[in-house]
Amino acid sequence: MTDLAALQRFAVPGSVTIDAGCGGLPRVSISTPLCRGEIYLHGAHVTAWQPAGHAPVIWMSTQSWFAAGKPIRGGIPVCWPWFGPAAEAGKPAHGLARFADWDLTSVAAEADGTVAVVLRLALTAPASELILTARFGRRLEVTLDARNTGTTALAIGEALHTYLAVGDVRRVQVRGLAGVAGFDRVAQPIALTAPESITVAAETDLLFNATESAVTVQDAAWNRTLRVAKSGSRSTVVWNPWIAKSAKMPDFGDHEWPGMLCVEAANALTDGYQLAPGASHRLGTVIEVM
Ligand code: BG6
Repeated sequence: MTDLAALQRFAVPGSVTIDAGCGGLPRVSISTPLCRGEIYLHGAHVTAWQPAGHAPVIWMSTQSWFAAGKPIRGGIPVCWPWFGPAAEAGKPAHGLARFADWDLTSVAAEADGTVAVVLRLALTAPASELILTARFGRRLEVTLDARNTGTTALAIGEALHTYLAVGDVRRVQVRGLAGVAGFDRVAQPIALTAPESITVAAETDLLFNATESAVTVQDAAWNRTLRVAKSGSRSTVVWNPWIAKSAKMPDFGDHEWPGMLCVEAANALTDGYQLAPGASHRLGTVIEVM
């Protein structure tokens, strides 16, 4: 159990507070002239980012669990060391990192007013060390540094599974992937090539491979464009559960799907990679309102 009193040494008077958030889970809240933000130690999970003068950019489900052993629905789930269903029976989807309680290792206010929050997770199976850095400023920058601390190579699949808040997903255009090959994964994987503009008019689960491109999310309803850039990432996933799938998910409100779109910086399935003993990999995403 994390000791909230001990975490108070990371508070920054006037801009960073640490308290028991939803479900009593430890939460770091940032409020500066640049933005408002939140990150939970459970999963190293960013649950809010709202740059000054704009509506929230990060979406959260009102039905999310906030409990040990459960993932948070919305925000930026950290998926590691596998993406999607586990190969091994009985293991959860999207890896172990989003279920774990991370340690807060630093909070620093930078010269331009950005607040950088760093969390660490050491795993024994697989032997590894993860460092998640979330920089809350005019932009939101999240990086995941993963190191293999064991003696055998690790097969890694991963994602920074960002849930973006949008006015109406049916009026959104995702651009920046034109010509990139990928798969429609809603039923059987069907190969496809991304068009100039991707729109959402049904359950959408698109995985694009071998692309490092940034995408823009043009949101007609809210009259704004978000940009999602990434690094150390070969896959981009675009996901919206639509009506039937959201109704099946207990931690996702039945009528919430029009308000979100996931754009994920990933290394998924065929873009997974081997992490040699002692080696590290950095996965990053940068989100901004244009
Ligand atoms: C996406 C996957 O990344 O995450 C979807 O492409 C999946 O297939 C979605 O349904 C949500 O996953 P979960 O495990 O958080 O419900």
